[in-house]
Order: sequence, then C-alpha cells, then structure tokens
Amino acid sequence: MFLQDAVIIENRESGDKKYYLLRVKVEKGLQESKPGQFFMLQCKDGSRVLRRPISLHYADRESGVLEFYYEVVGKGTKEFTLLNKGETINVQGPLGHGFDTEVEGKNVLVIGGGMGIAPLKYLIEELKGKNNLTFIAGGRDSGALNIVNNINLKGFEVLETTDDGTRGRKGNTVELMKEILNEKNIDIIYTCGPHGMMKAVAKVAAANGIRCQVSLEERMACGTGACMGCSIETINGMRKVCKDGPVFESLEVSSCNE
Ligand SMILES: Cc1cc2nc3c(=O)[nH]c(=O)nc-3n(C[C@H](O)[C@H](O)[C@H](O)COP(=O)(O)OP(=O)(O)OC[C@H]3O[C@@H](n4cnc5c(N)ncnc54)[C@H](O)[C@@H]3O)c2cc1C
Ligand code: FES
Repeated sequence: MFLQDAVIIENRESGDKKYYLLRVKVEKGLQESKPGQFFMLQCKDGSRVLRRPISLHYADRESGVLEFYYEVVGKGTKEFTLLNKGETINVQGPLGHGFDTEVEGKNVLVIGGGMGIAPLKYLIEELKGKNNLTFIAGGRDSGALNIVNNINLKGFEVLETTDDGTRGRKGNTVELMKEILNEKNIDIIYTCGPHGMMKAVAKVAAANGIRCQVSLEERMACGTGACMGCSIETINGMRKVCKDGPVFESLEVSSCNE
C-alpha cells in the first residue's frame, strides 16, 4: 500500500454530469494491484478530512495509469469533478482484498449493478482471455450504463438491462442471471452492485451450488483496518470490509444469506 501524489491525465464527464472517468499516473503500487481493490482519494478541502474510497476501474501495470470511475453523490465526489489535467491528487492504495483471478478454463459470470460495475472492467480484462466469460450489466437507466462504454466488450457475451428499458432489456440483472444459468454451466460468479442485488445473486448461486464472490460497499473512515468503522458479520465472526474485503465469498457474509 502506497501513499502518493498522482498526476491527473484526464477527468471527464461520462455521458452526463453525474458520472466521471478519472485517469491518473502513479509511480508505485500497480504491479501488485488486483481487481476489486480500491484506493482512498484525498479531498483538497481540509474540511473533508476523510478520504473517499474508490475502486480501481482499471490499472495498466506497464504505464502506471490508473482509472477510476465515480458518481457524483456528495461534496467529496463533487470536488473531484473540479480536478484538471496536470494537477495532482493524493491517493492511498491499492487497499483491500480483491477478486480471485487465479481462475482458468472456466465458465465465469460477471454481474454488475450501477456503480458496482466500476471494479469489473479490470476484473473482465484479467479473466476474459483465459475463461469463457459472460457479463451482465444492469442500471437504473441508460446513463447508469455509460460506464460499460469504457469496457472492451470483444470476445465474450454481454447482456444489458435497465429498470426503465432505456438501454438493453427492461428488467433486472437477476432475471438475466437465471436465464444464463439455464443455458450455461457456470462455474463461478463475480458480482458487485447494490446490496439487494448481490444478496439475490448470492442466493441463486447458493441454490445452484455455484461459487460466488461479492464485492461489498460500506461507509469507510480509515480504509486500512484501523478504526473498525466498516465491520460486518460473517460466519467467521466480525470482518472489516476495507481490510478483509471488499471481496468476500458470498457464503461467508451473513447479510447475503439471511
Ligand atoms: C470499497 C469501496 C469502493 C467504492 N468504489 C466506488 C467507485 O468506484 N465509484 C464510486 O462512484 N463510488 C465508489 N464508492 C462509494 C464512494 O466511496 C462514495 O460515493 C463517496 O465516498 C461519497 O463521498 P461524497 O463526499 O461525494 O459523499 P458524502 O457527502 O460523504 O455522502 C453523500 C451520500 O453518499 C452516501 N455514501 C457515502 N459514502 C458511501 C459509501 N461508502 N457507501 C455507500 N454510500 C455512501 C452517503 O450516505 C450520502 O447519502 C466505493 C465505496 C467503497 C466502500
Ligand atoms: S474503514 Fe476503518 S477499519 Fe475499515
């Protein structure tokens, strides 16, 4: 884990003013990074003491270019929209425990909902060459799926769904997941998105005896395991999402199995 000033290469709106793609150059930390890990991004405004956790959207280990994709929800993320090319932002990471990418020759299903799609670009890049991959992306509306335009979708099946039907099929990811499970013998499922969606995915996975990894989101203060702020209940006792996760086996997480 490193603390460093990252130089901003690009910080642009992604289709509308709610979603931004931030690309920065870092000197250290990407070689050992894994999909599912995150960075804590510092706000320049001193009144916002706590860093904001943002997932690695993509990491180019060769060039040191790191991508984040974020939704503007409050003052911290609003401040990030004001960052210009050439300026710096202090970043801490990579943090946490990412997805298991030591998987080869398997039928893998990746399911993302809303901003939970953010960490899946890097995951897909790691998995797609060596596995038969299916990707389901869901969101409220077409704007929520702009993020999919940043992902290279060649070489695997992609299914999209929105609540209002403005992009892909009208419906939800869990309906599509059930259809895929009827068609393919899926070996492992990876999911990130709203908790209700992940819980439903985890239940279907468990009912079908399929291994499932979930990437959880909790409010975080330190992001490094020092404050207990992000503790969750698991079958192995309390665990910290920032340090033991954010990626867990779904069978381990109590709230995915209630
Ligand atoms: C491991 C991890 C990875 C994340 N990755 C991404 C990402 O890739 N892209 C992205 O856009 N967001 C991501 N988030 C969520 C992001 O950290 C919050 O949206 C951000 O911290 C909000 O900061 P703010 O100052 O703009 O909003 P605040 O003013 O702090 O809060 C505004 C609203 O957002 C809600 N909120 C704030 N933090 C969280 C949180 N951690 N979880 C759920 N709701 C929250 C608050 O309850 C409030 O309603 C991630 C969170 C975690 C824990
Ligand atoms: S945020 Fe402090 S322990 Fe996880």
